[in-house]
Amino acid sequence: MTTNVREFEEIMRRRRELTSGPIYSIPDAEMEKVWARLDKKSPKSKKAYETAKECIPGGAQHMLVNKNPFPVTIAKALGTRMYDIDGNQYIDYLMMAGPIMLGHNYPPLVKKVNEAIETEGIGSGWTSEYEIKLAREVKRHFPSVDLYRAFQSGSEANMAAARLARVYTKKKKIVKIGGSYHGWADQFVYEMHIPYSGLFESAGIPEECFAQLICVAPNDTAALEKAFESAKDDGGIAAVFIEPLGGESGATPMHPDFPGELRALCDRYESLLVFDEVVTAFRLGLGGAQAYYGVRSDLTVFGKIITHGYPSSGGLGGRRDIMECLVSGLQPFKGHCFVAGTMGGNVISTSAGYWALKFIEQEKAVEKAAAAADRLRGGLNGIFERMGFPFFAYNFASIVHFETAAPVAVDIREKDGIMSALARKQAVDNFAAALLAEGIITKYGNRAFTCMAHTDADIDTALGAFEKVLGLVKKQGG
Ligand SMILES: Cc1ncc(COP(=O)(O)O)c(C=O)c1O
Repeated sequence: MTTNVREFEEIMRRRRELTSGPIYSIPDAEMEKVWARLDKKSPKSKKAYETAKECIPGGAQHMLVNKNPFPVTIAKALGTRMYDIDGNQYIDYLMMAGPIMLGHNYPPLVKKVNEAIETEGIGSGWTSEYEIKLAREVKRHFPSVDLYRAFQSGSEANMAAARLARVYTKKKKIVKIGGSYHGWADQFVYEMHIPYSGLFESAGIPEECFAQLICVAPNDTAALEKAFESAKDDGGIAAVFIEPLGGESGATPMHPDFPGELRALCDRYESLLVFDEVVTAFRLGLGGAQAYYGVRSDLTVFGKIITHGYPSSGGLGGRRDIMECLVSGLQPFKGHCFVAGTMGGNVISTSAGYWALKFIEQEKAVEKAAAAADRLRGGLNGIFERMGFPFFAYNFASIVHFETAAPVAVDIREKDGIMSALARKQAVDNFAAALLAEGIITKYGNRAFTCMAHTDADIDTALGAFEKVLGLVKKQGG
């Protein structure tokens, strides 16, 4: 685990070193061979992509799909393995972008959820005992949560948190830390992924949507204090939202003291501190990032992991006095915050969440997944060093970052910064495609999530694939 200042500073130094040097990537001639190999291995997936493009924008529903050169179509998933429609087998380190801690299709979980559906149906529009069971389980692990409300996605839960913070504090502005991701609601699609990137990622959002948003650079406590001061007579700051490991699950890492400094500032200016624990809750530890840092948030946003990936997966928890503003009819027109959702708290999500948390605890999934990640991180750093690359890997429990081109570490304010970030992203996409050809699935070609089912052999197989792919990598222009 990376917890101390020295380790944080070392990561920052290595990021600077990587982004100020040449880009390392797989040369085009080698990529041609990788793509030809994927073509040969996966003709059915290639054909399915052509069909998909006729009925789905971009040919795939999920934003994480690597379409370089086409996405593989998955037919089966079990434990750490995924199988595509051509019969190829992959070791999965995407884990649905985080929520899978027990392994895909973990039989005891599937059994419990199926039993719940067979008995209760998928939901009634009334209530079920699983709602209570899940809420109690979340409270047990998160002392900052008195009350828990289910939503249908992490995006929705963040939207609810912003509105609730405004109702409770009677203040207007929301602070977001540059580079962090809080879903796709209008007010949050600003400086996503890369600090200082502004509206880079989406058109179609009127500027007014950002009128009450202040974006502060990561780890800049002085800038945050300044924001609090200048907002004092201009509506005030209702809440500060953070991904507690730093943007993109720690791809832009958080200084270990930053969460505590945020807590102190939020207290001083009577604003709410919102931890977006969509990835970190029940993965970093059963008590999430707040237990890891020993910092209590006022509101906690939960997402995909709260149902172990079953739909619909979102939730908001927090202090009773704040959360009670969500109660209908409590103070109509004054202190009431309206939120809704037909599918919220349905039997699939709540039974999946309840049983997943039980199994994660019982099976010590957090510890096992973290041990697998430690092995992966250690192995990767060994290979990087042995092969003489300036690359580096680090992990926060079962979240592993491996930086070969570091696109999100680029300071895009610098001359040609955007071009550099895009070229680095391409290098990483190609790296992901080459790993795919070797039977390894990662997130964006620079992140790996482990689960309790990853064995030493799985990690060693992945390391072998990395070594092979790294053998193709060359310094650009070198
Ligand atoms: C930290 C964080 N917040 C919010 C979200 C959005 O959640 P959802 O995709 O369920 O809307 C994500 C999704 O990746 C996330 O990682």
